[in-house]
Amino acid sequence: MSSKTMIEAKNITKHFERKIALSSLSFSIKQGELVALIGPSGAGKTTLLNSIAGLVPLQGGELLIDSLPLADYKRGKKFAKKIGVIRQQFDLIGPLAVIHNVLAGKLSQWGLIKSLISLLVPQEKESALTALNRVGLGDKPYEITATLSGGEQQRVAMARLMVQNPEIILADEPVASLDPARADDVLSILTKIVSEENQTLVASLHSVEYARKYFTRIISLKNGEIFFDLPTEKVSDELLHELYKLKEQGLI
Ligand SMILES: Nc1ncnc2c1ncn2[C@@H]1O[C@H](COP(=O)(O)OP(=O)(O)O)[C@@H](O)[C@H]1O
Ligand SMILES: [Mg+2]
Repeated sequence: MSSKTMIEAKNITKHFERKIALSSLSFSIKQGELVALIGPSGAGKTTLLNSIAGLVPLQGGELLIDSLPLADYKRGKKFAKKIGVIRQQFDLIGPLAVIHNVLAGKLSQWGLIKSLISLLVPQEKESALTALNRVGLGDKPYEITATLSGGEQQRVAMARLMVQNPEIILADEPVASLDPARADDVLSILTKIVSEENQTLVASLHSVEYARKYFTRIISLKNGEIFFDLPTEKVSDELLHELYKLKEQGLI
């Protein structure tokens, strides 16, 4: 098992106007880690994920992705191979067949012409069909995406990510809109695939229960700072109580 560092944050800081969203955070994440980001609403989870995805400019500190400064990655092929993002709203195109949405994982690698042709005749169908089989949707490549259930659509988004095959996967509240049974299902498939591919996953979660069940490490944020950063088995109920108690007292 390789132990190279995939994400290294050194004192990263982000303000929105005078509001501090991330306050001098430092951590490093190795290849193959499954990291859950937890913490009360407003703690900075989304801002942190967006920073790693290069979507939010930082005011201070440094982010290294696979040992290179984030700024060194140009948008496009190289970055898409490095980092993939699962969004809460999935970013799927409803009227398109499932297979087209899955193949959209290739868009950043394909040129415009190939992408356009793919809308008529799916290109590299095999990789999409393999991915759909792995998420349990092998029988639905030509269904219209919008007609699938929420949980199935999330699986389509995962299949798209498998086709993109990035080294790091970032997910912001990936199961927040799903009922508990589907959420469990989606997280179990996602973490299984990520482990099999030795990818690195960082996901923010509302539910501590899912963080404990599927992730190897939990980083908790509070007021833009790291509250604790521990292997999952070391996260006690007392620590979790402290993390969320502050919110009840109106301190966050
Ligand atoms: N675009 C923005 N403009 C102003 N403030 C923002 C913006 N995005 C986030 N914030 C603020 O930054 C803090 C962290 O937010 P966020 O990262 O969304 O937290 P979380 O995802 O943990 O709920 C919050 O106080 C939030 O209000
Ligand atoms: Mg958020």
